[in-house]
Amino acid sequence: MSEEPIRIAVTGGAGQIAYSLLFRLASGEMLGPDQPISLHILEVPEALHALQGVKMELDDCAFPLLKEIVIGSDPYKIFQGVRYAILVGARPRGPGMERGDLLKENGKIFIGQGKALSEVADRDVKVLVVGNPCNTNALIAMSNAPHLSRKNFFAMTRLDENRAKAQLAQKSKFHVSEIRPMIIWGNHSSTQVPDYFNAKIEGNPVTSVIHDEEWLADTFITNVQKRGAAIIEARGKSSAASAASAAIDTMKSLINPTPAGELYSVALCSDGNPYDIAENLIYSFPCRTNEKGVPEIVKGIPLNNFLKEKMKASEAELIEERELAFKS
Ligand code: NAD
Ligand code: LMR
Repeated sequence: MSEEPIRIAVTGGAGQIAYSLLFRLASGEMLGPDQPISLHILEVPEALHALQGVKMELDDCAFPLLKEIVIGSDPYKIFQGVRYAILVGARPRGPGMERGDLLKENGKIFIGQGKALSEVADRDVKVLVVGNPCNTNALIAMSNAPHLSRKNFFAMTRLDENRAKAQLAQKSKFHVSEIRPMIIWGNHSSTQVPDYFNAKIEGNPVTSVIHDEEWLADTFITNVQKRGAAIIEARGKSSAASAASAAIDTMKSLINPTPAGELYSVALCSDGNPYDIAENLIYSFPCRTNEKGVPEIVKGIPLNNFLKEKMKASEAELIEERELAFKS
C-alpha cells in the first residue's frame, strides 16, 4: 500500500462500460480498501460535457479512497504518471458486425494512446485494452510505445473466461466458483477457443462431469464465442456491466500473485510463448502472476489436435488483423 494516491487511467469515461467501471474502481475494488486512488479519465472533446456529469456523480458518492478526479481529452495530460491504464474508449459493434469490422475506425485511437503512454505514463504502467478489436488494438498500442515493456500490454479475454464458467456451471448444476481453471486461447472474437479439455469442475475434468461431448464441442464453444453478439441482440447494446466486472477481475489478477494451483486468461504479447503461436501478436494464454507481480504464461498445458487446430485458426485471424492494421 502507498499513502500517495495511485493513478488509474480510464478512457471512454462517458460510455456505458465506464459508467459501471469507474464507480467500482473508486470504491477500492481493484487496489483494495486501504489504497487511495486518483482517477484520470479521458474522453473525446464532444463527450466531455457528459463526462463532467459522471464526475459529478463520482463526487456525490463521497468515496473515501478517491482523492482526485482528472478529466480531459488530451492523452498526454491524462496519462501523466498513471500506473494502470484501462483503455475502453472505442466504438462498440452493432448487430450483424464482427468485432474485427471495428479495426478501421478504432485502430487509430490506439496509435496516439500508445504514443502518449510511452511518453508520460509511469515506466511500469500496466495497460489493459478493452475497446474492440481488443487484441489487435493492444498490439497497436504496444507497437507505438517504444519506451514501455511489451510485457505490460494486455487485452481482455476474462469476460470470455467468466462466460465459459457460467455456461459450464449452468449445465453441470455446480456453482460457478467450482469451475476452475477455464482457459481461453486466442482472439476475443468468434474464433476464440474456450478450452473445456483442461477445465475442471470441483477439481475433476469437465468431461468426467458433463458426459454430453456433443454439447461441449459444439453448443458450449459456440455459446461462449457468440455471447457478445447474443447480448447485443437482446439488449440492443453491447455488454457493459459484465465487461467492467471482467476488467476489474483482470487487473486484480495482473497485479496480485496468483494463488497456488490457479490461473487466469488474458491476452498478452506472444513473443517467446511455449505453444507455437506466432510472435508479435496479442494472444490469450493461461497466465499466472508471480511473487514479484509479473504476469507469466503457464507452460505445459496439454493440447490435443482439436485444440491445436482451433488455436491456429484464431492465430490466423490475428495475423490477418495485424496485416490490416499495419498496412501502410
Ligand atoms: P460506448 O460507446 O458506450 O462508450 C465508448 C466511449 O468511448 C464513448 O463515450 C466515446 O466518446 C469514447 N471514445 C471514443 N473514442 C475515444 C478516444 N479516442 N479517447 C477516449 N474516449 C473515446 O461503448 P462501450 O459499450 O463502453 O464499449 C467500449 C468498447 O469496449 C467497445 O469497443 C466495445 O466493443 C468494447 N468491449 C469489449 C469487451 C471485451 O470483452 N474486450 C466487452 C465489452 C465491450
Ligand atoms: C463482448 O464480448 O460482449 C464485447 O466484445 C462486445 C461485443 O462486440 O461483443
